[in-house]
Amino acid sequence: MAKIAVVLGSIRKGRAGKAVADWVVDQAQGRDHDYALVDLLDHPLPLMDAEVVPAAAEKAYADSAVQRWSDTIDAFDGYIFVTPEYNSNVPGPFKNAFDCLGQEWAGKPIAFVGYSFGNSRRVLESWRMSVTGSLKMQAVDAATDVDLAANFADAAFTPTSAVLTQLQATLEELEAKLG
Ligand SMILES: Cc1cc2nc3c(=O)[nH]c(=O)nc-3n(C[C@H](O)[C@H](O)[C@H](O)COP(=O)(O)O)c2cc1C
Repeated sequence: MAKIAVVLGSIRKGRAGKAVADWVVDQAQGRDHDYALVDLLDHPLPLMDAEVVPAAAEKAYADSAVQRWSDTIDAFDGYIFVTPEYNSNVPGPFKNAFDCLGQEWAGKPIAFVGYSFGNSRRVLESWRMSVTGSLKMQAVDAATDVDLAANFADAAFTPTSAVLTQLQATLEELEAKLG
């Protein structure tokens, strides 16, 4: 049984992402793998200022908060990033948290749940092609794209059957990569 982290990358007050990430974890229960929420809000991190480049750090960090983040992330076999889109790209705090580590992410399977107004194509492509691709993570083809306008009725997350179908495909492809 693989361990999969559902990483919530918004730390904003009143964030929409908490409901989306909780829904992902909830929908994943009862499957053959072990899914757990990793909330970036529980990991306050410095802006990436380490002298040693994280890819060369061999999972050992001078900053205790980064070390705790490293230990948390390294314990998982694969990841689902639950990501908003900020100014058409990856959110700064989430990118910083990603950049703080190196070998913990490298080569591992990853899938994405994006949410935005309209479609999340740009942020998902940025995560997939540029950011996680830099560390040779294995991104699955399927992704889940939550349109906030269509899926938040009266400020409550009410996912459509279409996004539920997308999520099931995303989980299945990620699990297939984990074997
Ligand atoms: C800094 C910032 C930039 C944003 N840029 C976009 C954007 O490019 N496209 C979009 O659809 N929504 C954008 N939004 C609106 C977000 O989709 C919306 O606020 C969403 O709730 C953010 O996720 P969060 O609440 O989990 O942080 C932006 C919001 C913020 C705070």
